[in-house]
Amino acid sequence: MNTKLKEGIDWVGYIDWTVRDFHGYKTESGSTYNAYLVQDEKNAVIDAVKAPYVGKYLERIKALTPLESIDYIVCNHAEPDHSGGLPGILAACPQAELVCNAKCKTALEKHYDTAGWKWHVVADGDTLSLGKRSLAFVDTPMVHWPESMFTYVPEEKLLFSMDAFGQHYASAFRFDDEEPLDVILQEAKAYYANIVMLYGRPISQTLERAADLEIEMIAPSHGVIWRSHIKEVFEAYQKWVVCKPAAKVVVLYATMWKATEQMAQAILEGAQECEVEAQLFNVDSTHMTRIVTEVLDCAAVAIGSPTLNNGIMPSMAGVLCYMKGLRPANKQGFAFGSYGWSKRGGPNEVAEAMDVMKIEAMQEPIRSQYAPTPEILEQCREAGRAMGKIAEQYK
Ligand code: FEO
Repeated sequence: MNTKLKEGIDWVGYIDWTVRDFHGYKTESGSTYNAYLVQDEKNAVIDAVKAPYVGKYLERIKALTPLESIDYIVCNHAEPDHSGGLPGILAACPQAELVCNAKCKTALEKHYDTAGWKWHVVADGDTLSLGKRSLAFVDTPMVHWPESMFTYVPEEKLLFSMDAFGQHYASAFRFDDEEPLDVILQEAKAYYANIVMLYGRPISQTLERAADLEIEMIAPSHGVIWRSHIKEVFEAYQKWVVCKPAAKVVVLYATMWKATEQMAQAILEGAQECEVEAQLFNVDSTHMTRIVTEVLDCAAVAIGSPTLNNGIMPSMAGVLCYMKGLRPANKQGFAFGSYGWSKRGGPNEVAEAMDVMKIEAMQEPIRSQYAPTPEILEQCREAGRAMGKIAEQYK
């Protein structure tokens, strides 16, 4: 396996082939926890791995240099998938100072017993000389947590970008040109949608700062390292940070006795009359990870639930809770669904959730008492056509 980024700079992370859950994100492709060793007159390790894998991480470092030779360990992000290995490496590297910003120090002190850790606190814009090369630190708050930071090696035009540009993607290969571009961009899109979509504005500001740097390589904390397709992933991020709509509509539904499903199918049929990509997902058979990835770039979304116990179906409630946290922007849409005797019911709760997400309401919810009549199904088709017309503007 080629793990060499540059002469004296190597990947020393861990490939997690089997992980399938990342706080709700279904990681069907596994993940990697990337860490890097920069060898110079002083040696620095960039980031750590999840706690259970610290042994393998130390073995990779030891294969390149004695642990006693490590001078600095940089923590770009305190989330435990990157910081969990810090207690282990700090115990094994007695000389090492932990380099991080002040917010990160505070977070690490709340996660771990940090007694005895040698801190080297840096601020935005600080640099640390390693000899021929240096590390420059760029605060990137909310990409993904408040303490998040990039580390840049100007002499190598190399950016350690932490979660940004990452993918939950286990691979035998470390570099973007060793994998199909469409696969890694799709994984990067899923990662963006499921991990950081809520933080589009700070990510956009970070992209602006990153655009001022000369970059030949982006080494994120998950997935492949970008060296041949930096332009492509930058352009994709510029679309994702604003949830730029495509000519695409998404219909989501839960169903009980198939009434809401019939309505969803009719909405889809209406949208399919337009020249757009129209997708349909039953939330009971499609994981929310896929759903938010598809919603990220749709122009319009219709969301339907029947009424159960005077409220929404629990499976749809879970999806809406997840979506409300991630807040897909720049969408229009409407709610729909069936009811029996409750005045409130599933469609109303869906509409309220869409309002919270600031999905612009195209119309009032479409409701059907019990099974939909032909007239209600035609209303659904018409609403689907209206969604399609909205999406056609983005062709
Ligand atoms: Fe990969 Fe926000 O941690």
